[in-house]
Amino acid sequence: MPNVVVIGAQWGDEGKGRIVDLISEKVDIVVRYQGGNNAGHTIVIGKEKVVLHHLPSGILRDGKLSVIGNGVVIDPKVLLQEIKELIEAGHTADETNLKISDRTHVIMPYHRAIDLARESMNGKGKIGTTGRGIGPVYEDKAARRGIKLADLIDPDALSNRLKEVLDERNAYLTKVLGGDPIEFEEIFNEYSKYGEELKKFSCDASKLLNDSISEGQNILFEGAQGALLDIDFGTYPYVTSSSAGSGGASPGTGVSPTAVDTVLGIAKAYTTRVGEGPFPTEISGELGEKLRQAGGEFGATTGRPRRCGWFDAFALKYAAQINGISSIALTKLDVLSGFDKLNICVGYKYKGAELSSFPSTSHVLDEIEPIYEEMEGWGEDISDAKELSELPAQARKYLEKLEEVTGVRIYTVSLGPSREKIIFLHELFS
Ligand code: GDP
Ligand code: IMO
Ligand code: MG
Repeated sequence: MPNVVVIGAQWGDEGKGRIVDLISEKVDIVVRYQGGNNAGHTIVIGKEKVVLHHLPSGILRDGKLSVIGNGVVIDPKVLLQEIKELIEAGHTADETNLKISDRTHVIMPYHRAIDLARESMNGKGKIGTTGRGIGPVYEDKAARRGIKLADLIDPDALSNRLKEVLDERNAYLTKVLGGDPIEFEEIFNEYSKYGEELKKFSCDASKLLNDSISEGQNILFEGAQGALLDIDFGTYPYVTSSSAGSGGASPGTGVSPTAVDTVLGIAKAYTTRVGEGPFPTEISGELGEKLRQAGGEFGATTGRPRRCGWFDAFALKYAAQINGISSIALTKLDVLSGFDKLNICVGYKYKGAELSSFPSTSHVLDEIEPIYEEMEGWGEDISDAKELSELPAQARKYLEKLEEVTGVRIYTVSLGPSREKIIFLHELFS
């Protein structure tokens, strides 16, 4: 089994959780490398449904190590609650199977307050963030005023660091955003307790991962969000604040890029996006609503309705190129049953001319006219199919067309949220 990076190939919520859960059976370690609790990764096992926000999606597999890498940002209260709930549900989430890099940055109450205040101040121009403080915590990391897990677990370091940064953050929060200041005592007392509880998980995760690779263990690097939400290559500024592409795996874990053997992209059989920003293949009106209902397209983190649209092969080709995606796990094909016609976007037109590359600005993307190829739909329920040959001819044609127009091989097709609802088209990473 190679070391594999698994990323969302669209705008997030592609089904990364369920695919990482599946593949994690075959690896030794699953490490998350970016994002925070803006993520919501769903795993369904029989009647049990677990939504993970911070924890790697290998945590439900016995005998596997889960690691939260330095590129992730953690909200300690949310993380501790997530651990508690997993344990209550009968799973293991303790220092034997969970490690957190001590370089991981911590989301503080002022990050959340700044995120929310900015979004409400920006009104129509808002990003549509998850309101979890993600942008502000990554800003502080880059501005060199962040608080790391290593600080959180050491009361003296936490006190010193808070004294260095809190005045400035409070000035911004109150004078620029018109919010309320955050008191040192309150935050120190609460957060040093979280530090105490998280101390047992804290480690030099980069060393742990590199030593494990030297010993012959293999690693799955789990991305959050998706290629089109990446801070550099996504639909900026309507993106998240981290490197959600495969390139983020190395700086987000402290493992060299040369250790990565392959990149698997997860894509839905159609497209969704939650929050604001351009979405060339968005379907409005009744048809869009039909897709939302059929796919249960409501955010796993915020519960917001997801915007729905046709499969965008032009965007996927771009995502595949910049991230080195060599194969795709296609999810939610079952949701497309009952649509007479299906469109696949194979190109973009801008001001009447066909584009040769994916636009770098949102205002161009807003004016894109998608070029569609229309496909025949199928009526029957396909969720019980076990083999490709059991799918209707139109569904097989749809898959063939997706491979043809994206240039990427589809290696699994999933037909339902639970573990067994999946067809393997090729041997895993053959
Ligand atoms: P992630 O953020 O990429 O892990 O994806 P989410 O968990 O946010 O959203 C994916 C949703 O689709 C979850 O509710 C999954 O249980 C569900 N899901 C995943 N694969 C399939 C599938 O093949 N068919 C159906 N119907 N649902 C799926
Ligand atoms: P998973 O890992 C879908 C979106 C938000 C918003 C933008 C910025 O479950 O696929 P942020 O809170 O990160 O500053 O919000 O990014 N977004 C996601 N959309 N899935 C996610 O995660 C997302 N995480 C952030 O809706 O548009
Ligand atoms: Mg999600």
